[in-house]
Amino acid sequence: MARTHPVSPQHLTEAAEALRQGRLVAFPTETVYGLGADARNEAAVREIFRIKGRPADHPVIVHLPSAAHLEAWAVAVPELAYALAERFWPGPLTLVLQRHPSVLDAVTGAQATVGLRVPGHPVALALLDAFGGGVAAPSANRFGRISPTTAEHVRAELGDAVLVLDGGPCAVGLESTILDVSRVGDAEGAPRLLRPGGIALGALQEVARALGLEIEDAVQPGAGTRRGAPTPRVSGSLASHYAPATPARLTEDAAADLAAYWARHPRAGGVGEVAVLARRPQPPLGAAARALRRWRVLPETPADYGRLLYAALRELDALGCALLLVEAPPPTPEWAAVADRLRRATAPAASPNVPE
Ligand code: TXA
Ligand code: MG
Repeated sequence: MARTHPVSPQHLTEAAEALRQGRLVAFPTETVYGLGADARNEAAVREIFRIKGRPADHPVIVHLPSAAHLEAWAVAVPELAYALAERFWPGPLTLVLQRHPSVLDAVTGAQATVGLRVPGHPVALALLDAFGGGVAAPSANRFGRISPTTAEHVRAELGDAVLVLDGGPCAVGLESTILDVSRVGDAEGAPRLLRPGGIALGALQEVARALGLEIEDAVQPGAGTRRGAPTPRVSGSLASHYAPATPARLTEDAAADLAAYWARHPRAGGVGEVAVLARRPQPPLGAAARALRRWRVLPETPADYGRLLYAALRELDALGCALLLVEAPPPTPEWAAVADRLRRATAPAASPNVPE
């Protein structure tokens, strides 16, 4: 039997107790569901890596009940970090800071820094309050796969191996924005955006500029390395992340690609083999409609699109098509987080067998 259940005070007490005993608990956040363990318990943290099938040198984020816990986990915390925490926590922002000496290597991937965030979901906050400390949690999916945004998704990923707190569908739907502020005290220590997410770069930049700082966008391919800065091991920065199993390709015009696919795979070979994740309603497709299995339209605004993206990718992936065509989002800042996830989901490393 699945062990997912709606959350009552008793469930929260049980879940907090499970964490204290070194067991894992999957819990909702406003971004995606996390697979949590007591961040001070090495065996428990290692169990996260085992269950996810994740390489042991990848760091995990520590979730805190409030910003008041910052100094138990980080040292040399710059003014900027406090300002950002004040403005955006609880919320979808992860700050990378110099680790406190007490933080486990298993959490940081033996790096000198630690990722910290206070999540903005009532169930996550209630769990963290009941537990009273830091909870290490990556997204509750198997390594390299699509992050879960419902409790159902977590079950589909992890089966019954862990307790799952069901807090409904995630409101943001994409992972947190990651900002590295670990070198802000240094001469060359600009804050660096490592992953776009629920908090837009522009909003962070406002807070940074008020303190005379400028955030560097290290997300664009080639950024950071161009400047010779060390590239931190951000597992979400692997090209193959957030990937469906179906070979997937970005396109400006799904209808044209579908027609081309039908021309190359006419009749039985091509029937119903293509799924489309679209931004526009299905246009008349003529004969090429026979190649189409599903034309799935996502909402027009970036926030609504982002909230529903992973569920839609899962739905289309489950069809087992030969090809998934994804209509490219606009190249504007509001779409940065969505564009980043779509680029990775359709990267050649993630989709080596895209048919012509
Ligand atoms: O929204 C989120 O951030 C979700 C929810 C559960 O909080 N968590 C999440 O965790 O996406 P995960 O492990 O799937 O991705 C966290 C990212 C990884 O890419 C990891 O490498 C990076 O954070 N990270 C963690 N600590 C870091 C550090 N010290 N330096 C650089 N990157 C770090
Ligand atoms: Mg992840």
